[in-house]
Amino acid sequence: MPQKPFFVTTPIYYVNDTPHIGHAYTSVAADVLARFHRLDGDNVFFLTGTDEHGQKIQQTALKKGVEPQTLTDTVSEGFRQLSSLLALTEDRFIRTTETAHKEAAQALWTRLADKGHLYQSSYAGWYAVRDEAFYQEKELVDGKAPTGADVEWVEEPSYFFNLSKWEKPLLEFYEQNPDFIAPATRRNEVISFVKSGLRDLSVSRSTFTWGISVPNDSDHIMYVWLDALTNYISALGFPQTSQENFKTFWPHVVHLVGKDILRFHAVYWPAFLMAAGLEPPKRLFAHGWWTHEGQKISKSLGNTISPQDLVTTYGVDQTRYFMMREIPFGSDGDFSHKAILQRTNADLSNDFGNLVQRVLSFIHKHCEAQLPVPQDLTSDDHHFLRLIEDLLPRAREEIQHQALHKYCEIVWQGVAEANRYVDRMEPWSLRKTNPERMKTVLFVLATSIKDLALLASPVIPLAAAKILDQMSFPHDKRLFSSVGALLESGLPVPKPEGLFPRLSVAPQEG
Ligand code: MSP
Repeated sequence: MPQKPFFVTTPIYYVNDTPHIGHAYTSVAADVLARFHRLDGDNVFFLTGTDEHGQKIQQTALKKGVEPQTLTDTVSEGFRQLSSLLALTEDRFIRTTETAHKEAAQALWTRLADKGHLYQSSYAGWYAVRDEAFYQEKELVDGKAPTGADVEWVEEPSYFFNLSKWEKPLLEFYEQNPDFIAPATRRNEVISFVKSGLRDLSVSRSTFTWGISVPNDSDHIMYVWLDALTNYISALGFPQTSQENFKTFWPHVVHLVGKDILRFHAVYWPAFLMAAGLEPPKRLFAHGWWTHEGQKISKSLGNTISPQDLVTTYGVDQTRYFMMREIPFGSDGDFSHKAILQRTNADLSNDFGNLVQRVLSFIHKHCEAQLPVPQDLTSDDHHFLRLIEDLLPRAREEIQHQALHKYCEIVWQGVAEANRYVDRMEPWSLRKTNPERMKTVLFVLATSIKDLALLASPVIPLAAAKILDQMSFPHDKRLFSSVGALLESGLPVPKPEGLFPRLSVAPQEG
């Protein structure tokens, strides 16, 4: 069977600031999806990167007294390091200052111009540099953007994209593709926004220079969102639409974005693509925002959370698991040290870690450090193993619509089931009363632990690999197609090491 293509993206991050929990969140979510689909045998392309042009970056560089290119080179590197920090497995890290990307953005512009969708005029209105967005007077709240960003009055010659003409095609597109925008509340928001009427969009700037030049008009640079959105196809080889990656992966994409940048992705992006004669993306998922101990996260409040600190304090898998499990993907949620401590101690150290530790050290000690040969499995054993095996289609179902928290819940239902099986079977009592049955029970448990490690590995990849290593489970079998298969007796089981040390006090609080 040919492999199914699966393309997942994060927003490309602005390089005016160092990475924080919001960036880590989308990147981990994308990584979990990418890893899940790879283990499920799909052909995966995971894209992330940095958004390096625009007024915000130019102003930040000016404030710091460095050239924009120097700023972007330095800060972009910090985002690239998120990957090793959080065990991200992107296939491509794109930077919008790359020549190939610039050429792709210009090619998209030329297509739009050639098809008559751009015209020259001038823009007079409000602009929020922080959001890199134009706002109408009626959208302002107490003289600020609805996002709370400061706005400034801008008047400049500008090219416009005829967005107003795309109102009807967009509404038809949403209608025909009910799964394009998720969650459903976000879809409704977008539809009512489009129904309320679209105005043509200014797509070039002429009062500063840090951007991609407009083809055949060096007085203008492209509006940073037109430039940035193009990354999703320039990374696949656009404008060479005959390139393998473009042909394979476009438009089979899941764009993950925060709710604040929904409009750019749900309205402008499909409109640009349709206007250029390209297919709009298949799926857009808007996730919620984290607060910190109940407060909005902002630099001015000094309460930002650095991914580096999280990893140092709690560990990579713990950070990833907490972010995915704690809040329903799509809703807002709160970060607190107490919550991450409770969540990781309970689910990782107690439930999963102890299960593995108990079973593997018992095998190591009482089965000559190798996986024992079982006797016939009882119906209870079969029933238990079937429950574990059935987690895969259930998890897949949740992953299909990006319900990452439910996917975690399902896997941990399996962990709870395995703990109940241990308690029911009491292998330590069997050691004296029925050593052969003890071996069977341990064999069944080891098989379930292998399955649980495989199923959990998208979210806790380091611990999962360690578990499989401790069971000498072959690398080439570490795929979901191995879920449900019985293990081979005789595999070495060395003395296991602890997986998730229990943390008692959050260092920040203690
Ligand atoms: N450069 C644009 C995206 C262009 S994509 C073609 C951008 N960059 S950003 O760096 O400002 O934001 C990146 C992401 O971080 C957004 O999806 C945003 O929602 C997310 N978050 C920023 N703060 C956040 C939280 N406190 N919580 C969760 N996500 C948050 O926008």
